[in-house]
Amino acid sequence: MEPLSRRRMLQAGGALGALGALSVAQPARAQSIWTWSAAGSVAGAGVGTDPRWVWDEEADPLVASLIDRGDVPAVNALLRTWTTNGQPLPSGLPADLRDFMERARQLPSWADERKLALAVDFNTKRGLYLGVLYGLASGMMSTVIPKEARAVYYSQGGADMKDRISKTAKLGYDIGSPNAYRPEGEMIVTSVKTRLVHAAVRHLLPQSPQWADRAEEDIPISQRDIMVTWHSLPTTVMRKLVDWRVPIPAAESAAFLHSWQVAAHMLGVRDEYIPASWDEANAQAGQVLDPILAPTTEGVRLADILLKLGTPIDAGILSKPILGAFTRFMLGDRIAEWLDIPREPVWDPLLRTAWGPFIAVREGLLPFPLAPQAYWLFDEFLRKAALLFLSNARPISIEIPLTNRPS
Ligand code: HEM
Repeated sequence: MEPLSRRRMLQAGGALGALGALSVAQPARAQSIWTWSAAGSVAGAGVGTDPRWVWDEEADPLVASLIDRGDVPAVNALLRTWTTNGQPLPSGLPADLRDFMERARQLPSWADERKLALAVDFNTKRGLYLGVLYGLASGMMSTVIPKEARAVYYSQGGADMKDRISKTAKLGYDIGSPNAYRPEGEMIVTSVKTRLVHAAVRHLLPQSPQWADRAEEDIPISQRDIMVTWHSLPTTVMRKLVDWRVPIPAAESAAFLHSWQVAAHMLGVRDEYIPASWDEANAQAGQVLDPILAPTTEGVRLADILLKLGTPIDAGILSKPILGAFTRFMLGDRIAEWLDIPREPVWDPLLRTAWGPFIAVREGLLPFPLAPQAYWLFDEFLRKAALLFLSNARPISIEIPLTNRPS
C-alpha cells in the first residue's frame, strides 16, 4: 500500500473531523476562519474572500507560460540589467511580460510621497534596530512559519541559503534606503522581480514530490501566506520597538507602516487585505500569524543554517552563540526550544540586562546635533557590510527560478 502522505492524512483528518468521526486527526495548525474586515484595509472595502484562496491571477499564468515556453533564461539575462525604479524596461522582453511589468511597476494611487519621505527619517534614526530586527526577529520567525519554511526549503533557493538570504536581505535593504521608491531607488524593481519569483514558485513547487508530500496546501504562497510573512516583518518589528520603549513619533510610525503597505501592494497583494493602521495590522496578525507559528523539520534545519552563517568568519565560536541568544531574546523561550537553540550562559543574561540600557543611552543621545547622521553612517556601514558578506561581494540579482531544490 502507498504510504499515507501528510497531505492525505490532513485531508482525511479534515473530512472525518467534519463528520465528527475523528477529532484527533484534525491538523493542529488548521487555519482560522478569515474574519478580518476589509473595512480596516487601505481599500476601505472588499468582497471579503479568504485570501487563503487568492494567489496572483495576473502573474501566475504569465510566469507559468514563460517557464513552459523556455523564455526564462533570456528574460533573467535581460532583467539583470534592470536595477533602478526609474529605468525603462530592457528591450527584447516578451510582449506579455513587458505589459505586465509596466502595470506592476506603478505605485498605487494611494501612495503618499510625504509619508514615504518621513519613513526615510524613521529608517535613518532606527537603522541599527531595524537591521537586527529584520535579520533576527523576522528572519528567524520565518523558520517557524510552517508553510514558508517548507516552501523555502524545497524550492531552488533552499539549497543555498546564503544566496537566498542575500536576496531577501536586499529587499530589507532597498525598502530602508533613502530613495527606496524614488526613481534612483531599487525597491520597485525588487518587488516586481519578487512577484515574478513567487509566481514561478507557485508553478514549480507543486511539481516537487517532497514538497507535495509535506505541504498542507496544493498551491503555495497565497495572499494570506504573504500577509503572514508581512506581519513577521513590519508588525513584528513595530511590536518589538514598542516593547523596548523606543520613543517613536506617531507620524514616523505611520510612515514606516506606509512604506510596507506600498510594498505589499507592489508584491501583488490586493488592497483589501492590506491593513490601514497599526491597530488593524495587529488585529490581522493576531488572527493569521500568532496562532500558526510552529516547528517543522524543515524550519529547524533552516534555522540551524542561519545560525551558522558566521562560521566562515569565526568558526562559529562567537557568532553562533550570539545569534542564538539574540533569537531567544527576541522571539522567546518557546520558539528557541522549537528551534533547538541552546541556552547561552553568558549571552542570554547579558542581553536581558544590557539591551534596555543600551537603547536608553542611544535614544538619550539622539536629540544631539549630528547624532542621527552619525548613527546612519555607522548603521549604513553595517547594512552594506552584511549584504556584501551574504552575497559573497557579488551583485545581488533576483532571478526567476527554473527548478526546485535538487533532491
Ligand atoms: C523568493 C520576499 C512571502 C516563499 C523571495 C524573494 C524575496 C522574497 C525578496 C527573492 C529571493 C530569491 O529569489 O531567492 C518576500 C516577502 C514576502 C514573501 C517580502 C512577504 C511580505 C513569501 C511567502 C512564501 C515565500 C509567504 C511561502 C509561503 C518564497 C520562495 C522564494 C521566495 C519559495 C524563492 C526561493 C528560490 O527558489 O530561490 N521572497 N517573500 N515568500 N519566496 Fe518570498
